Parts: sequence; structure tokens; C-alpha cells
Amino acid sequence: MKKEMEKAFNKQVNAELYSSYLYLSMESYFQSISLSGFAAWMRAQVQEEMFHGIKMYNYIHERGGKAKLEAIAKPEEKWESPLLAFEHILAHEQHVTSLINNLIDVAQDVRDHAAKAFLDWFITEQVEEEASAGQIVDRLRLIGNDSSGLFFLDSELGKRVFVMPVKQ
Ligand code: FEO
Repeated sequence: MKKEMEKAFNKQVNAELYSSYLYLSMESYFQSISLSGFAAWMRAQVQEEMFHGIKMYNYIHERGGKAKLEAIAKPEEKWESPLLAFEHILAHEQHVTSLINNLIDVAQDVRDHAAKAFLDWFITEQVEEEASAGQIVDRLRLIGNDSSGLFFLDSELGKRVFVMPVKQ
């Protein structure tokens, strides 16, 4: 793999691990306000982001490169409401989508077709990530100040479990 591509992948490993860290911080926030279903959803999201980071890490090595781990930035600790937390997730995932798009631009610039094929999985994944966060944002807006709606959503989100994809 060309050095420029390796560097870009390493940057994205850090971004995925940061996502995991950010969502772990949100999990802590939801636990602190006793919304255990939201916290469980977030815990699954933490594992999913760690999986994304490790998938890229593995790929760097598979292509003969070396994964380099940098410091992970400190995430926010508090949100004013579940809606603001999920709006943050949606904006963050839109940002991650733009990072993946940039990575594909690098793959195209250095004519790394294999990297481009590998990144297609992430493009599809980002569509899902944005859609699921967006759907929860919409539902929280509809719920507004209705606490029974919030508790219903909490029990629904609590059913989520992370399932490790077969191939890493
Ligand atoms: Fe790994 Fe949520 O993007």
C-alpha cells in the first residue's frame, strides 16, 4: 500500500476509535440519567465503532502496512437532553461519512482499486449509521416532553445487541 494511503487509513482508525470513545461517554451520560435502554443501545454502538476501527487496522496489516495508534481526543461528557445527544450522533456520523469519502478520494488519487473496494463496505455502513441516528432524532422530536413516549423508546432501544459480523 502506498504511504499516502496508509497514512489516510491510520487517520481513520483514530477517527473510528474516537467515535467509540464518544459513544462510551454518551453511554455514561444515559446511565447517569437512568435511561438504561438508551445506554444499552449506545453500548452496542461503542462495540460497532471499535469493530470499524479494528477492521481498518487489520486491513492496513493485510496490505503490508503498519497501524500507528495516536492519542484519542477527549469526548464531551454531558448533553442537555437525549435529543441533543442524538443530534450530536447524527452530525458526527455525517462527518464520518465525509471522512470515508475523503479516504476514497485518496484511493482514487493513488489508483488503489483494492482500497476502494474495501471502503465500499464503509460507504454502505455509513448509510445505515446515518439512517438509524436520524430515525431516533425524528422520534425524539415527536416525543417532545412526553415522558411515557421517552420510556417506551427507552425500552425499545434497550433490545439492541451488537452482533459481530462474520468476516472482520
Ligand atoms: Fe464508524 Fe459510526 O462510523
